[in-house]
Amino acid sequence: MKIGIGNDHAAYEMKLEIKKYLEELGHEVVDFGCHSTDRANYPEFGEKVGRAVAAKEVDCGVLICGTGIGISMAANKVKGVRAAVVSEPVSARLTKEHNDANIIAFGARIVGVELAKAIVDAYLNAEFQGGRHAERVEMLMDIENR
Ligand code: RB5
Repeated sequence: MKIGIGNDHAAYEMKLEIKKYLEELGHEVVDFGCHSTDRANYPEFGEKVGRAVAAKEVDCGVLICGTGIGISMAANKVKGVRAAVVSEPVSARLTKEHNDANIIAFGARIVGVELAKAIVDAYLNAEFQGGRHAERVEMLMDIENR
């Protein structure tokens, strides 16, 4: 898969670990920054990854900030984005299966690297289940048109 990744300064170290992990799994990773631990603003990187996902330049996105919250909020402002913040693998799987989340987000100050890898695995290995969930996701996306 082609995966867009984005982070702020609080998650720079974790981004490097997750990016390496994804590449080891054979994915192509497009890194939208930030690229150091210098203070950075999460809305910028959430928006960049959100736009790439919405434009289908990448298949899905991974966003990491201190909590995962701010950066996912930014991504969710982009039309077409369904970014979910999670802190464990069950929610990561279910948000793909039920919500067809196209971005998974988590917090570098909330989860450790091994848990983050398990979250990414659960998300990437899950499939949207469609059916009644498709109807609900359509309803969700309709909100953007009102
Ligand atoms: C940065 O200090 C912090 O606010 C940010 O990483 C994130 O947690 C925001 O939601």
